[in-house]
Amino acid sequence: MPELPLSSADLHAVLAPLGSARPLPARAYWDEDVFAFDQAELFGRSWLCVGREDELSRPGEWLLAPLTPAGVLVVRGADLELRAFHNVCRHRAATLVDGACGRLDHLECPYHGWTYELSGALRAAPHAPPGFDRGAHGLLRARAGALFGFLFVTLDPGAPALESALGGAPPWLSRPELRSLRRGRRVEYEVAANWKLCVENFQESHHFPRVHPGLERLTPCDDAVSWDMGGKGAAGGPWLGGIMALAPGAETVSTSAARGARPLVVPEAERRRVRDAMLFPGLLTSLQPDYLLTYRLTPRAPDRTLVVADTYFHPAAFVPGFAPGDVFAFWDAVNREDRAICERQQRGIRAPGYAPSAYAMVEDGVHAFDGMVARRYLSALGAREA
Ligand code: FES
Ligand SMILES: [Fe+2]
Repeated sequence: MPELPLSSADLHAVLAPLGSARPLPARAYWDEDVFAFDQAELFGRSWLCVGREDELSRPGEWLLAPLTPAGVLVVRGADLELRAFHNVCRHRAATLVDGACGRLDHLECPYHGWTYELSGALRAAPHAPPGFDRGAHGLLRARAGALFGFLFVTLDPGAPALESALGGAPPWLSRPELRSLRRGRRVEYEVAANWKLCVENFQESHHFPRVHPGLERLTPCDDAVSWDMGGKGAAGGPWLGGIMALAPGAETVSTSAARGARPLVVPEAERRRVRDAMLFPGLLTSLQPDYLLTYRLTPRAPDRTLVVADTYFHPAAFVPGFAPGDVFAFWDAVNREDRAICERQQRGIRAPGYAPSAYAMVEDGVHAFDGMVARRYLSALGAREA
């Protein structure tokens, strides 16, 4: 692991109380070594969301998660077991599948035809030498699991079990009703900005009036409160969040602000709230009265982040004539606005002489996220010094 080119004084400054803290040093957003650390130690050691459980409900269904250059293949086995494999042939490393998802009864390498069971076992290896040990050449495993209807993968064999790693989750995400949501749309795009800028942008609504006047009208930033499960986030746990109120007259967040016939995905008593939650490092969720948004971030380069954005509705919403174009159009505009502002920030952050100054007193959510990152950087520096 390369050494982190960050000073512990700068990182401790992030951890000071909000009013006297300084944001993460600029270098954390453009340096190649910091980026390698983020990939290996933050993303490489966490449970990462790769989709929803219902995407793999039948034996043989697979999806390819863009967590590595080859991708990680998540497969529902013939025994209905969920497994994850690196999408790499054990012969000479060709990737096995292309595309985002599909259904197969075995995996066959397109190069020389090595074939694998859905369990990952090597079934056939044409022209393998006599005595070749097939049992030792199954697909390389990652770990897969499902929680709250989401699918997760970790590349770290030593990571804690999924349930304990995700402990302290926001109560609104663990409601059983949410498990049955169905995806209405997926869009993917790249943001020319460091992944941490994308998360920070999600962690505050202070930018709504200037960047998203349309969103500010529906969920005014003055009515936002940060959510931190008993301080767990601040103590290094994996979740942070925020709760916003819908403006009077708005039934939901969309171009029409009307829910129409779409069923609620939250209890009646909570239908005037929007609840955002971030799972460290790269899952952003936003629960609206009648739909759930998720954004999965994958860092591609210090200044490039892949975003996979999904919108889920109540299963009963999918009736003939279901047309949630008002939701999609609204969020397409908001996502474009966020993308543009994060890209402006990325261009600015390398300016000679730039150093961060202070958090606004309404940026406690950004401060909490930066604190989670700073603690990880500090413990790596500490381990090096020890
Ligand atoms: S690389 Fe897969 S069979 Fe040769
Ligand atoms: Fe935004």
